[in-house]
Amino acid sequence: MTARAELAVIGGSGLYALLDDATEHEMDTPYGPPSDPITVATVGDRTVAFLPRHGRDHRFPPHRIPYRANLWALRALGVRQILAPCAVGGLRPELGPGSFVIPDQLVDRTTSRVATYYDEGAVHVNFADPYCPVGRATLQQATSKNQITATDGGAMVVIEGPRFSTRAESRWFTEIGGAVVNMTGYPEAVLARELALCYTTIALVTDLDAGVEGDHGVTQEEVFRVFGENTEKLRGVLMDALKTIPLDRDCPCGHALDGLKLPIELP
Ligand code: ADE
Repeated sequence: MTARAELAVIGGSGLYALLDDATEHEMDTPYGPPSDPITVATVGDRTVAFLPRHGRDHRFPPHRIPYRANLWALRALGVRQILAPCAVGGLRPELGPGSFVIPDQLVDRTTSRVATYYDEGAVHVNFADPYCPVGRATLQQATSKNQITATDGGAMVVIEGPRFSTRAESRWFTEIGGAVVNMTGYPEAVLARELALCYTTIALVTDLDAGVEGDHGVTQEEVFRVFGENTEKLRGVLMDALKTIPLDRDCPCGHALDGLKLPIELP
């Protein structure tokens, strides 16, 4: 393999391409192929990979995304820092459609997904703070630079999907401290940690979740429409963050596997 990249963006619903003048790379991993060929291009003085997590034609629903293959393929390219935008529902009235949130916590409510590379031995990674602090600060600065107010912190509840939540579930997510809800943030975040990668999410609120709005509940049409309306803003933020994120990794993420005996060899 000749392609290399330092940074990556994993695009969510509505963000199926990002990079100009990119080369495309078909990849395979011990977990099968990733969601799509990975595109690689230069942004500023960095090499960046882009992977649409649902596939460019959105063929993978959230519970069928090949998460392990995606993270593995990015690491195999040399990527060590990942920015992961996603669409979310707001769990607080003030986090309405069009708001941006840079979560600092995650609550896993998924049920069917393989969430580890380590099926043998004792490999228990620290996941107290699921997102890279340097990536979060970089995205916060990039939103300010683009005249966007992003809420700094908040817990992202990740549900199994593919259905949206009931009103009772949604109210409960708010009660337990959730700020936003989505369907893809897990196991992506923990698999990145298990590969000692820096991983940071930026959440674009596309709707108020069913327990917050009193009317029709969440619709897929609304989610895709609001995401589409905000894609250009998101692109601007990501491009600035890719150009400015420090590459020296002065954060705990790269040490996630220190002292652990791994049953597999990482790429
Ligand atoms: N993605 C976008 N909006 C969502 C919601 N309300 N619930 C779960 N995932 C979402």
